[in-house]
Amino acid sequence: MKKNINKDIFKASWTYDEAPESTDHIQVKKQYELYIDGKFTKPVKGKYFDTINPSDNKKIASIAEATTEDIDKAVKAARKAFKSWSTLTGKERGKYIFRIARLIQERAREFAVIESLDGGKPIRESRDIDIPLAANHFFYYAGWADKLTYAFPNRNPKPLGVVGQIIPWNFPLLMAAWKLAPALATGNTVVLKPAETTSLTALKLAEIIHESGIPKGVINIVTGAGKTGAEIVNHPDVNKIAFTGSTGVGKYIQKVTAGTNKKLTLELGGKGANIIFEDAAIDQAVEGIIDAIFFNQGHVCCAGSRLFVQESVADTVIQKLKSRMETLMIGDPLDKNTDIGAINSKKQLQIIENYIKIGLNEGGEIYQPECILPKKGNWCAPTLFLNVSQSHRIVQEEIFGPVLAVQTFRTIDEVIEKANNTPYGLSAGVWTEKGSKMFYLTQKLNAGVIWGNTFNKFDATSPFGGYKESGFGREGGLHGLKPYVKFE
Ligand code: NAI
Ligand code: MG
Repeated sequence: MKKNINKDIFKASWTYDEAPESTDHIQVKKQYELYIDGKFTKPVKGKYFDTINPSDNKKIASIAEATTEDIDKAVKAARKAFKSWSTLTGKERGKYIFRIARLIQERAREFAVIESLDGGKPIRESRDIDIPLAANHFFYYAGWADKLTYAFPNRNPKPLGVVGQIIPWNFPLLMAAWKLAPALATGNTVVLKPAETTSLTALKLAEIIHESGIPKGVINIVTGAGKTGAEIVNHPDVNKIAFTGSTGVGKYIQKVTAGTNKKLTLELGGKGANIIFEDAAIDQAVEGIIDAIFFNQGHVCCAGSRLFVQESVADTVIQKLKSRMETLMIGDPLDKNTDIGAINSKKQLQIIENYIKIGLNEGGEIYQPECILPKKGNWCAPTLFLNVSQSHRIVQEEIFGPVLAVQTFRTIDEVIEKANNTPYGLSAGVWTEKGSKMFYLTQKLNAGVIWGNTFNKFDATSPFGGYKESGFGREGGLHGLKPYVKFE
């Protein structure tokens, strides 16, 4: 989609030409089966559901729906494989994980295009962030596989057994990598379920897993919606559940696993505070605000969805933010110029639109730049809400879309109190030239990840996770190994 880059200066004379990524090189089948015990298997009940492209709502492929019997088969296969996989040397396990990482790299372009087609995220992000980071996670944990005794000195770490992993739709391949890589490195076997709107890259990953020659049953990939997820959670022979998704489903899983022997880690929602002090480099901070809330259409658990600007610079920051928003390009996820792609599903678009209504009804002042949204598909303009306060629902609740709630503050104590006044505790950002102020805030803010003069930076070596209703357990880094081992 073409867009004027700055109407005032260029008087509509400059436009970006379309620059779509080619889809010639990708292979998408009409129908995808379950990957159980090293084979692509039809679902016992023979049911399939559609996966669609959220930028035009057209069907891409049929996906198998796993029911009770299929999950039981997958868990049995994983249990059987556990015996040999857990006793294989770490060095041998590491080789398979390395191979998966290399194969992702080899097919990175295909993965990136399919991720954008199936989920709606801009190709620039899937190409430069999701896919390379997914490969990095496998590389990183492959390196740990034969060094577990160094990771946990004198503690004799042992794998847990069969692990059930349920992932969301916002970073489909990357979340699969976050889950699989540490579980495999520590000697567990896995039943993994991708989210129902974005199963394709997990199923492509199943092809790579197959190609890697990893023993059958070590990784099983089953598809379906919440019901399928619940079958994994409730299966009696699963030793651990690792879940990333909504706080509501997280609470359900915690309830039904209570009193069982299942171990649990939950990575849930967030309402990250992005704090701009008057001494910050303002232009960089504005770029950081854009990245914090509009990256991946705001479908980010650690998004900086609450902005706090120090009063003395608030007018400048908001004016610069508004004019930067004017230049954002919204449209075809496969266009290399696109900044904001499609909203992942109709259901998610309804959730976001409903929050925008709530914000208006509560008296918030809305700002959206002029932009023409495509006619087909699910789209939401980047949105600011000014004149909101702590008690507004759009300030307290996770929206999971491109909607930013803006507040101001005067003192450091005030902003700490406001930033911590939420049921969540996943992420925060602090923008200041003063290192001492930044370190002071890292101690005071209740968040698992705090970025300094940047936002939404991820690395395989760095732990990630939350406090309070954002969940518990850490993924990434040395910390990410711990939820997959027990000590004898
Ligand atoms: P969801 O929590 O329902 O979906 C996440 C995963 O859980 C999917 O794979 C889904 O199939 C599975 N699931 C659903 N019900 C289940 C159950 N009873 N037992 C086991 N697995 C189950 O999230 P949904 O409905 O797609 O999105 C709703 C809201 O959740 C969003 O608006 C957003 O606020 C939040 N969300 C947060 C995420 C995060 O990373 N923190 C990711 C996805 C959604
Ligand atoms: Mg889809």
